[in-house]
Amino acid sequence: MSFPEGFLWGGAIAANQAEGAYAAGGKGLSVADVATYKPHADVKDYKTHTAVSLDAIKKAMGDTDCTYYPKRRGIDFYHRYKEDLALLAEMGFKVFRFSIAWSRLYPTGEETEPNEEGLAFYEDILKELKRLNIEPLVTLSHYEMPLHLSLKYNGFTDRRVIEYFVRFCRTCFAHYGKYVKYWLNFNEVDSIIRHPFITGGIIPELCGDRGETACCYQALHHQFVAAGHSAKLCHEMVPGGQMGCMLTKLMTYPRTCAPEDVAATQKKNLENMFYSDVMVFGEYPRMILKDLEKRGIEIQMAPEDLSVIKEGTVDFISFSYYMSMTESVDPDAERTPGNTVLGVKNPYLASSEWGWQVDPVGLRISLIELYDRYRKPLFVVENGIGSKDVLEEDGSIHDPYRIDYFRRHFQEMEKAIDAGVELMGYTSWAPIDLISASTNQMSKRYGFIYVDQDDMGNGSLKRIRKDSFYWYKKVIATNGRDMSDEI
Ligand code: BG6
Repeated sequence: MSFPEGFLWGGAIAANQAEGAYAAGGKGLSVADVATYKPHADVKDYKTHTAVSLDAIKKAMGDTDCTYYPKRRGIDFYHRYKEDLALLAEMGFKVFRFSIAWSRLYPTGEETEPNEEGLAFYEDILKELKRLNIEPLVTLSHYEMPLHLSLKYNGFTDRRVIEYFVRFCRTCFAHYGKYVKYWLNFNEVDSIIRHPFITGGIIPELCGDRGETACCYQALHHQFVAAGHSAKLCHEMVPGGQMGCMLTKLMTYPRTCAPEDVAATQKKNLENMFYSDVMVFGEYPRMILKDLEKRGIEIQMAPEDLSVIKEGTVDFISFSYYMSMTESVDPDAERTPGNTVLGVKNPYLASSEWGWQVDPVGLRISLIELYDRYRKPLFVVENGIGSKDVLEEDGSIHDPYRIDYFRRHFQEMEKAIDAGVELMGYTSWAPIDLISASTNQMSKRYGFIYVDQDDMGNGSLKRIRKDSFYWYKKVIATNGRDMSDEI
């Protein structure tokens, strides 16, 4: 058993959680720039952390504070990317996943010409990656839509936003196509149902009589159409370009073998995969349409939409995988949080400090399930554990829990490959500590590289190698053959 030759080992970040410099170089405000750090909210209650209102947005817009709007400061990747990429190269990275902030290229989203300074910033990153011999994997949309589009159009709810997104994609393909072969359309496209503002720019108060849920599905449909256009453009404009979809793989097991629990679980898993179904098969699953109909949710479609979706299917399937949960029809079953979800607790699994149930075998099951369903190459583009790390007096950081988490997941990936799954690569989330997407904390650390900054933004921002840095370096150097503790 081994990882294939040329396996793409690396790591993933997102612009809005890492770059900072939210107003530099002509960048416009994005939805991430108004995400508020709520120190007193329970970290296991993702809904409170991701909640948004018009008042809160307006207050944020009139404020230049970066303490309570931590994504505005990120980890200052904007100014330190050379140092950061050098560290990733030192670990031997073959691939680096990052996103392009839409509002750096189109500050409001409505401009007809891109912002040159923003364009140049990403070109510099891509040149640096080329010099370091690291393959870029670019996410076009990772929770960072221009705020203006959210306020004016209620985000993707309005179909005019498709055109603005396609314009942005065209610019990316035209300028960066010579550097980038692998692209992803929408990060965790399914998450629009769980946090509509972050994913689709939807503000509940602007949904009117139609209601938030119906707006979410309408916006999702527009994202599918935008993704179709984007895949087609990628194929036309980028020589050898490949487009992937990106799914939050929310692995759910039945809590018991009672048939009703199994049926409820099946429903959950089908719902989770419906998003990739659309982008891989190029059509809506009949059962999902039926379900929407029963719920009184009507998606308005233009005549050409379904053919755009059909013609713009993806070349590979990427997904994030952090945890699993169970499902039960028992209303009293104990619940536990996961990646912006609340599931039923699994008595066989331990949880992270944030309550996410750690389940390496679930990664193997996911890989096999997705490959069997789609028969297309897979890419694990996010996986990792958020933990509180301790910076010792001598400047070291010992994180055996992180090494253990990764090792157990890599072993399961290996088993899936051995079973015949085509796995292109793996990018950990996140190779360097950054701002949490859900809680806006800095102390929820994922990195092999420690960043000296606390939740309030205090710290030198110095980068420090953790023990896991040396361990991952060894794993990459041996293409996964040596996963022993020794570093
Ligand atoms: C994924 C997102 O859902 O989970 C990332 O794509 C995010 O942006 C990651 O950072 C981990 O979640 P969190 O909330 O711990 O940052």
